Amino acid sequence: MEYKVKKVILPAAGLGTRFLPATKASPKEMLPIVDKPMIQYAIEEAIECGIEEFIIITGKHKRAIEDHFDSAYELEEKLKFDGKKKLLEEINKLSHIKFAYIRQRVALGLGHAILCAKPFVKDEPFAVILSDDVIDPDYHLLKEMVGVYEEVDCPVIALEEVSESEVSRYGIIDGVREGDVVRISSLVEKPRREAAPSNLAIIGRYILTPDIFRILEKQKPGAGGEIQLTDALKELLKKRTIYGYPIKGKRYDAGDKVGFLRATVDLALKNPEVAEPFKAYILDVAAGLTGGKKETKSLKARG
Ligand code: UTP
Repeated sequence: MEYKVKKVILPAAGLGTRFLPATKASPKEMLPIVDKPMIQYAIEEAIECGIEEFIIITGKHKRAIEDHFDSAYELEEKLKFDGKKKLLEEINKLSHIKFAYIRQRVALGLGHAILCAKPFVKDEPFAVILSDDVIDPDYHLLKEMVGVYEEVDCPVIALEEVSESEVSRYGIIDGVREGDVVRISSLVEKPRREAAPSNLAIIGRYILTPDIFRILEKQKPGAGGEIQLTDALKELLKKRTIYGYPIKGKRYDAGDKVGFLRATVDLALKNPEVAEPFKAYILDVAAGLTGGKKETKSLKARG
């Protein structure tokens, strides 16, 4: 039986060690890129694909995520009283969305986090978004992947070419290019540089089918002692075809400090509220770095 993709799982229970100390007591997914938490970009991306049910996997110190998508009575009253209609609209933009939260008691890995959502997904295909992989909001990656899924009726995972020095940080695939997609022939989680079959890395967008749950239930811990989704996909590949979808737009690994800063700069330069003064500042900084002259307005002398 064929189903449409109506559900998304957003695993957000990781410990965020690359972003310490910020993530000691606060969720990484709530770090703002300009003025919006990363996880809100992810939710908006899913809404755009017609997804209707949102399942967030949370853990300890992650309560701020639930609060963010809840109503904020006192704040709303204050904004109403002050006549700040635009801000009021902005904070209520997602109030029609229904969220389910599942607590992953121990961060046993991405595969385990996804398995926690099994009772909510049952027998349908579903999307997975890792919200610390921020996709340029002008590029509609997940929508394209849903389109591919509807055509091929097989799991589809997003891929990006990474440099040789980065392959050991990702799941890496091998496969054959078929037009816009890659028919995957093997996958390996965090290979050594010499052992990597290609430089096509799996990034944080997936369209998966429910048969992955049966594999995850039996999956033993892999790299880093975690239950890895890549290992489960490797098992699934023995049974069915999996396609990779090389992305055509920009992705930021915003779970990493430099990736986060890149995302912040690029998205700030696209944000009408801050773009102009921020650009002027960036140009000033760049001029300073290249030894150019900084534009300053001199003060008038007194008297
Ligand atoms: P990461 O590999 O980025 O791990 O997880 P992390 O713990 O969040 O961050 P670092 O690497 O220690 O800095 C990828 C995604 O999987 C989720 C994370 O929240 C993130 O969205 N995840 C990971 C879980 O939900 N549970 C886990 O046990 C592990």
